[in-house]
Amino acid sequence: MLTGGGDCPGLNPVIRAVCRRLWENGHETYGVLNGWRGMIDGNLKPLGWEETSGILHIGGTIIGTSRTNPYKNDGGVEGVKKTFEQLDALIAIGGEDTLGVASRLYAEEGLPVVGVPKTIDNDLNGTDYTFGFDTAVAIATEAVDRVHSTAESHNRAIVVETMGRHAGWIALFTGIAGGADFTLIPEQPVDYDEIAAAVERRRSRGKNFSVIVASEGAELPGFSDEGEVDEFGHVRVENRAVGETVAQEVEARTGMQTRATVLGYIQRGGSPTPRDRMLGLRFGLKAADLVLEGKWGQMAALHGDVVNSVPLTEATAELKLVPQEWYDTAKTFFG
Ligand code: F6P
Repeated sequence: MLTGGGDCPGLNPVIRAVCRRLWENGHETYGVLNGWRGMIDGNLKPLGWEETSGILHIGGTIIGTSRTNPYKNDGGVEGVKKTFEQLDALIAIGGEDTLGVASRLYAEEGLPVVGVPKTIDNDLNGTDYTFGFDTAVAIATEAVDRVHSTAESHNRAIVVETMGRHAGWIALFTGIAGGADFTLIPEQPVDYDEIAAAVERRRSRGKNFSVIVASEGAELPGFSDEGEVDEFGHVRVENRAVGETVAQEVEARTGMQTRATVLGYIQRGGSPTPRDRMLGLRFGLKAADLVLEGKWGQMAALHGDVVNSVPLTEATAELKLVPQEWYDTAKTFFG
């Protein structure tokens, strides 16, 4: 198995479950080190009891990760195919990028691959939720709770910037659960006057402070992304400085002292919530079952409370963005 893309709480539970289920069926398990980089280089590590013991509650991934794309490296796909000669199957654990590669390797090269959906951003299609999301929202919500008391003490507006470069799920759930006075997500246009109006409405009701949640991927008016892209074509959204920019614009319009807090990697690091441990374990068992059944090109998925599977092509065709109805739910509680 390999883990690719940004790390995510719940990866180690998946690895643990895959190993247990495959061992009980008489198979050996290997970790491919550092995502697709390890498949290109043939960098495999046997995973046994010693390696997988005591990892359930640990964040990150014991087999490392990278954003390497075999299709963007000379000889990358050939390297992957060569490494496959040592393997019966590969379980790729990742988000749209990692699983997009897995999908192509299955469809174009006929390789025996199955997928597990991972991302704190929760923006993968074909599954109700990805593991890591619950942990990220729990951490971000706690941050919003903490920011409330300091905002109130100082009569300030505080902008809390969350991750989520293409989809606003983390910001949306954090904003609703944390009682944000405004929430900005990439799927909705940003209007500084609307945010300022929400802050003013609260002030007119005697609440001389506000908390605003903003996704790092919010599309700021007049801003165009520049600079390097990674091997999957993503720009570094932190260049937008969403939190800081929104804070300055709100202060300019309301005169209220405004600050920004960027949560960053805190949302991805550390121990998974019990819910993410459960989801990771269940996805891991399902992926191992898909291997045992030879159901290649499939991805473990959650629908309601049932873990089943969907084709990787369906999961990676397009991102799962926040629909209008969800944003309307958040809006009810603005200002
Ligand atoms: O894809 C998950 C994610 O956490 C995004 O929300 C974020 O923009 C990105 O990873 C940043 O990851 P890195 O800095 O590791 O490239």
